[in-house]
Amino acid sequence: MTEQPANTANQMWGGRFAAGPDAIMEAINASIGFDRRLYAQDIRGSRAHAAMLAAQGIISTSDAEAIGKGLLTVLSEIEAGDFPFSTALEDIHMNVESRLKEIVGEPAGRLHTARSRNDQVATDFRLWVRDQCDAAISGLDALIRAALSQAEAGADWVMPGFTHLQTAQPVTWGHHMMAYVEMFARDLSRFQDARRRMNESPLGAAALAGTGFDIDREATAQALGFDRPMANSLDAVSDRDFALEFLSSAAICAVHLSRLAEELVIWSSAQFRFVTMSDRFSTGSSIMPQKKNPDAAELIRAKIGRILGAAVALFVVMKGLPLAYSKDMQEDKEQVFDAADNLMLALAAMEGMLSDLSANRDRLEAAAGAGFSTATDLADWLVREAGLPFRDAHHATGALVAMAEQAGVDLPDLTLEQMQSVNPAITEDIYNVLGVHNSVASRTSYGGTAPAQVRAQIARWQKKLNGEGA
Ligand code: ARG
Repeated sequence: MTEQPANTANQMWGGRFAAGPDAIMEAINASIGFDRRLYAQDIRGSRAHAAMLAAQGIISTSDAEAIGKGLLTVLSEIEAGDFPFSTALEDIHMNVESRLKEIVGEPAGRLHTARSRNDQVATDFRLWVRDQCDAAISGLDALIRAALSQAEAGADWVMPGFTHLQTAQPVTWGHHMMAYVEMFARDLSRFQDARRRMNESPLGAAALAGTGFDIDREATAQALGFDRPMANSLDAVSDRDFALEFLSSAAICAVHLSRLAEELVIWSSAQFRFVTMSDRFSTGSSIMPQKKNPDAAELIRAKIGRILGAAVALFVVMKGLPLAYSKDMQEDKEQVFDAADNLMLALAAMEGMLSDLSANRDRLEAAAGAGFSTATDLADWLVREAGLPFRDAHHATGALVAMAEQAGVDLPDLTLEQMQSVNPAITEDIYNVLGVHNSVASRTSYGGTAPAQVRAQIARWQKKLNGEGA
């Protein structure tokens, strides 16, 4: 970064200033260190603005052409990595405009007609966040497809379902994977909703009150791919809902990623061995040769910390700010940049991990039957076949579980005589419901874990993803 002497008044707005800023003032004020990431959006916005100014006869066509061409030169300089960013010029907007002046001279001074950095930054940042919504949507789409493939491969593989991380009832691998499909699909729709709501143009709100120039806000909105101009100029420059919505959606998504990551950490442990992670998404230990660590899953599990942190930070920045623009709002960018970078990385890593993951079918099945997982099936049988009230059935089953536990066997290992000692109505038929496959196959209620239901869920999502409606 080229440092300019701190004691010269700013060339862009230094008219009323006799002296330049203190070095500390410059340090706290400058955002170029991070908002340079908005260069493409800034140049796009300026080109749209200049073209509109010419179309409205506010500046000459030749000036607009010089500006438009000059901005493309600036763009290629930045992309080539040889742009002289300057802290003295504060931010990306003034860095671009100042360089434009060096390139095209006098016409550059006409670009800022009927515009302020307030609507400029609001426009640039909206465009950037809109792109990130698209990135999140495609990252989630890929992740959903990976989870769906896992579900399809193991639609009828049985595994223990847990509540309180205690064995509860058998479920299928496919059912478990489809639960994440539902979560990630909600995340995807949150980004779609946020994108739709944020897709209005602040450009032309100027500093806060609009402008007396005969601008065409519809034209710039359209040129930038916005659905319409924002309807209130005060709101346009002071609104950061789009960033808050992005961060909120990102935080919820990060919670889901973290929960799946946690399951992968547990499942890949030697004690569970439900899944085997690929070498591509595991790491070794520098001291323990046997180790294969799920570092990617652990890091994904941790990302919620910084993403939610970013959301909280921006909420706190925005609360209590009087209308319209305040410099506090410059603090929006680093939070959103960091959260977006980490969300995209986490989505890609989870997609890679899940695509490479092998579920250990035999281990899952062996674990599915352990821990008296079909006790509820036994109780349900007593209700259905012996006419017991559920509470009594629950009690009788509890006695049978205690009996099995004491004998060190599973429920299906109890003899019919032992069963009948607890309730004489029990018949040989009971053994049909104690197997884990029968157990899952019986749960045919809508959204239940029966393989037929799971396959219906999968088919519904495949249709949806192929654009064939719900
Ligand atoms: N760098 C500023 C920001 O990110 C741009 C807007 C500055 N506006 C102003 N009136 N100082 O918010």
